[in-house]
Amino acid sequence: MNLLVYYFKMMHKVLLLVYRWQKYLFFFIHLLYNIINLLKNKISVLAIESSCDDTSAAIITDGVVISNRTATQIVHQQYGGVVPELASRQHLIHIIPVIDAAIKDAGMDLHNIDAIAFTRGPGLLGSLIVGVSMAKSLALSMDIPLIDVHHMHAHVLAHFAEEPKPVFPFLCLTVSGGHTQIVKVNDYTDMEVLGSTIDDAAGEAFDKTGKMLGLDYPAGPIIDKLAKAGKPVFNFPEPQVSGLNFSFSGLKTSILYFLQKAVAENPNFIQENLHDICCSVQTSIIHILLKKLKKASEITGIMEIGIAGGVSANSYLRQSFIEEGKKLGWKTYIPAFEYCTDNAGMIAVAGYYKFLNGEFCDQNVTPLARMEF
Ligand code: KG4
Ligand code: ZN
Repeated sequence: MNLLVYYFKMMHKVLLLVYRWQKYLFFFIHLLYNIINLLKNKISVLAIESSCDDTSAAIITDGVVISNRTATQIVHQQYGGVVPELASRQHLIHIIPVIDAAIKDAGMDLHNIDAIAFTRGPGLLGSLIVGVSMAKSLALSMDIPLIDVHHMHAHVLAHFAEEPKPVFPFLCLTVSGGHTQIVKVNDYTDMEVLGSTIDDAAGEAFDKTGKMLGLDYPAGPIIDKLAKAGKPVFNFPEPQVSGLNFSFSGLKTSILYFLQKAVAENPNFIQENLHDICCSVQTSIIHILLKKLKKASEITGIMEIGIAGGVSANSYLRQSFIEEGKKLGWKTYIPAFEYCTDNAGMIAVAGYYKFLNGEFCDQNVTPLARMEF
């Protein structure tokens, strides 16, 4: 009996101690956990992407993306383009469930995370604010570091989400809704832009053509599908831009004039020729992109070449890029579909390598709608 009383008294004392020192105990356990992880070389980063109309969260552990969840906003379809105010409101609705799902998919809880990476820019300011604020709050509450990521660096680093991975230095044609760039990638954090668009992006050329044809937004994937049953029978003038830069606004205007003239002669022209129009436009855009990429390879002598960004999901670009690459002796790389369009997996890769370099930012960090490369 005496032993039982003694036992309960001891338990009471231990519980009191735990209660009194819980803050320090928690800190100590957390510290121990991080030390064990570092010794085991296990580093996990939670990444958040909210630069445009996709809310995404991903987790990377030791350089391997183990979860990648994205909520796509369909509300913009009826407006023919992204409505910034609606986009930020949708991010607010999606962000917590998406982060929750990414953590669950990874079989983790928040306390397994060593740092929070987030897209700082470029993008829509209202959309970026949601992701940046979420990242800052999580990092503050968990007392872990914050890593700011450039959205376009991340598109390039999507190549490191899965095997096979390019060897440095490599060239990357990054083609999205807002950017078209040829980047020389020297290292995970050392990249230089060799050429970029002087007006519209390649994705914009797809989306704006889609609008002229009465297709939903984003029109890129729809044009891709419709083009499969068409032939490139219509020709559009190729823009003459010096060096490795691109221009798509001239092409857009010539498509517009071509359609206006053809519809004036035959009001059913678009419906009757939709597949051929899509195929012709797609062929013109891809031809412009690949011509400059070939030029970049000739100038730099680099034969390790990748494509990235939303437009790299285009089936004709993927096929032509591989075929050209075979002819020219390139080693070609294309990220899996889920890493081509906006996703947090690529932000996680970029964040992980910044973590290894010790490149963190503080709580004063602000989103940047325009962000230098
Ligand atoms: O990288 P992304 O998801 O978002 C931006 O950062 O902009 O790229 C979106 C762009 C849109 O313009 C969309 O029409 C285009 O990528 N896109 C495609 C395809 N899938 C997405 N363009 C052509 N063919 C596709 N299959
Ligand atoms: Zn993007």
